[in-house]
Order: sequence, then structure tokens, then C-alpha cells
Amino acid sequence: MKQTILITGGAGFIGSHVVRLFVNKYPEYHIINLDALTYAGNLENLTDLDQSPNYTFIKADIRDAEAIDALFEKYPITGVCHLAAESHVDRSIAEPMAFITTNIIGTVNLLNAARKAWTGNFEGKRFYHISTDEVYGSLGSEGFFVETTPYDPRSPYSASKASSDHLVRAYFHTYGLPVVITNCSNNYGQNQFPEKLIPLAINNIKHMKPIPVYGKGENIRDWLYVIDHARAIDLVFHKGNNGETYNIGGFNEWTNISLIHVLCEIMDRKMNRPPGTSASLITYVKDRAGHDLRYAIDATKIQKELGWEPSLQFAEGLEKTVDWYLDNEEWMDRITTGKYQAYYEQQYHKR
Ligand code: NAD
Ligand code: DAU
Repeated sequence: MKQTILITGGAGFIGSHVVRLFVNKYPEYHIINLDALTYAGNLENLTDLDQSPNYTFIKADIRDAEAIDALFEKYPITGVCHLAAESHVDRSIAEPMAFITTNIIGTVNLLNAARKAWTGNFEGKRFYHISTDEVYGSLGSEGFFVETTPYDPRSPYSASKASSDHLVRAYFHTYGLPVVITNCSNNYGQNQFPEKLIPLAINNIKHMKPIPVYGKGENIRDWLYVIDHARAIDLVFHKGNNGETYNIGGFNEWTNISLIHVLCEIMDRKMNRPPGTSASLITYVKDRAGHDLRYAIDATKIQKELGWEPSLQFAEGLEKTVDWYLDNEEWMDRITTGKYQAYYEQQYHKR
């Protein structure tokens, strides 16, 4: 079926993989990527799609309700995959307000626009909200997050994502808006902004700079390869049931310090450095405020009901990730110098 799908946050890390998958896999769809190009949005992630006939990029801010309404008036949007967000926990601790306005108000602006445009005809429509496992709070050494785990967010970031999840569900129950939500664990892979642990560590090791490990490095995260998350998003968008939540995870828990040691071994090998060189850069630093101890997803529901499985083992995924960052030095250099933000001007203002 011909569809016009609005993907928000498509110039970011996960969004760019989702946009690429949808544009290439569904040539009959029109994919609109809406992104404000904040510090985290980088159109260089998508240069391979510049000439794709079924792809449109629109620079807009989801906090601007009028712009969002206008977009729904201009295009016959049938589906929304909503990924645009402020996504970094440390930034939310330093400056919470952008998280409130983008993650909460921005989401409500999209819900309102979809509701207005679709009222009276929800048939074939879908509003898909992409969320995080952090809404469930922090686990001790036992147990897993399931879809019915009560919400207990503990950072401004996770509290803003939890609020947006509640609002999305409220629009389902109150207005019958056809929504679906997924809550995913930590993603890793190519094109991740180097403020997040894995790309930050790879870049620092490459330049022989200290690797900052918060606290004792004992916090645990469940890691999933970003392309496996994009595959899950495709599946849920097309096959998920309205009003449902699906947890997505990698069945792959690591303490931060063990993960850093594995990365150090890979980097020593790839950089032809004596074993132990990278590990000597490990530096324990002041812990993150309110640092959640452990996240762990039980992804049985999406496995059983929709047949999704992660395709990559962590060892293979990490190797691929390290190779990508080492092979794409320019991408990293342009981000770390801020030059990547000039791409939009060059690419779009010349037209
Ligand atoms: P990211 O920070 O890499 O990208 C976010 C994108 O949203 C950027 O392109 C940015 O320009 C855009 N954006 C931010 N504010 C905007 C606004 N006001 N209007 C329009 N666009 C705006 O984030 P990511 O890691 O790719 O995460 C994408 C989504 O997935 C987020 O909703 C996040 O909560 C969720 N998520 C992320 C992870 C993870 O491990 N990274 C895990 C689970 C869920
Ligand atoms: O769980 C899903 C979440 O994963 C997403 O919702 C977020 O958008 C995403 O940023 C990620 O959040 P984390 O806080 O888990 O990711 P981050 O890469 O910032 O940190 C991973 C772990 O590593 C965490 O325990 C903090 C620690 N850390 C992080 C950095 C940046 C360090 O020890 N040193 C660091 O320099």
C-alpha cells in the first residue's frame, strides 16, 4: 500500500538507520524525515539517500506546533515513527528544560497534529512512539523489565520520556488514536554521537586520551546493535497491535568496566599497539548523579508475538562498530570540530 510516513529525528543516530531502512526497503512509500538538526542531528548520516526519489528531508522543530500542523496539512501522512528527542542523560542533568520542551511538548504537538488530521478516519493510520527502557527505573542484580513493570524514572531524561509515553497512551485511551510504543535498551553502532559511552571511548582510545569511567564502572547496561533496533521498529510499525507496548533488548548485559576492557583489547589489536596500551587509559571519574545501577530488558513478547530476534552477537557487532569509526575518521573529526553542522547549509541552501 502507498504510505506517507513521517519519521522524526531521522538525522540522529537511530533515526538515520530507520530512515535508510524504510527508504530502501519500501520504494513505494514516501518517507519524510523531519529533524531540527540540533547538535545531535547530522545529515551526513544520510548522504547516500540524497538522490532517493521517495525521500524528503524537512528541517523543523517538533516544539513548533504550527509547523507540525502545517506539515500534516501539506502531506497525506498515514504513519508517524517518532524518534526526535533530547537523548543524553548527562545533558538532562545539566540542563533539563530542553528535555521537557522537546520530549514532552514536542510529542504532544505531534499527537495533536495526527489527531486533527486523522479524526474520523483512523483506518490504516499509525502513531509509533519510540521510547527507552530507562522509564522503568533501576534494577538490582536480579530481574528484568517487562512491559508491565511500573514506571519509575529517575533522571530528567527518563522522566521526560516516561511523560511522553503516558501522553501517547492517554491519546489511545481518550481519543482512540492508533498508537504503539516500544521501549528499547542501549543501542550501539555506527553514527552514534560521541558523547555516548562506546563512540566516546573509541575516539579517546584512538587519540590516547583518558577513558572516563563513572564511579566504579559497575553499572550494567543491555546493549543492542542499532540495525537490529531499526529492524524491530520496521516490524512493530507494520505488525504491532494498536495500544500495545513491546520491549526491545539485546539479551546482552555488561558492566561498563567489562565492556571497556573488551573495547580496549579490540582497539589494541586494530591500532597495532602492545596489549594493555588502551586499558592504561582507563580513568575512574566522579559518578553520574542518580546513576541507575542496572537496566535489563525481557524481550520475550516481541520475540514470541512478532518473531523478532537480534541478528548479531555482541563480539561481532563491536568489531564492526570499531571498524566503522576507524574507517570514518572524517565523520568523527567533523563532529568533534563542529564542521558537520555546515552540511545542511551547503546541501540545502544551494537549491
Ligand atoms: P540522537 O540524540 O542521536 O538523535 C535525536 C535526533 O532528534 C537528532 O537528529 C536531533 O536533531 C533531533 N531532535 C532533537 N530535538 C528535536 C526537536 N525539538 N525537533 C526536531 N528534531 C529534534 O538520539 P538517538 O540515540 O538516535 O535516540 C532516538 C530515539 O530513541 C529517542 O527518542 C531516544 O529516547 C530513543 N532511544 C534511544 C536509545 C539509545 O540507546 N540511543 C535507546 C532506546 C531509545
Ligand atoms: O537504556 C537506553 C538509553 O541508553 C537511551 O534511552 C539513551 O538515550 C542513551 O543515551 C543510553 O543512556 P545511558 O545513560 O545508558 O548511555 P551512556 O552512553 O550515556 O552511558 C552508558 C553507561 O556508561 C552509563 O552507565 C554511564 C556510563 N558512562 C557514560 C559516559 C558517557 C561512563 O562511565 N563514562 C562516560 O563517559
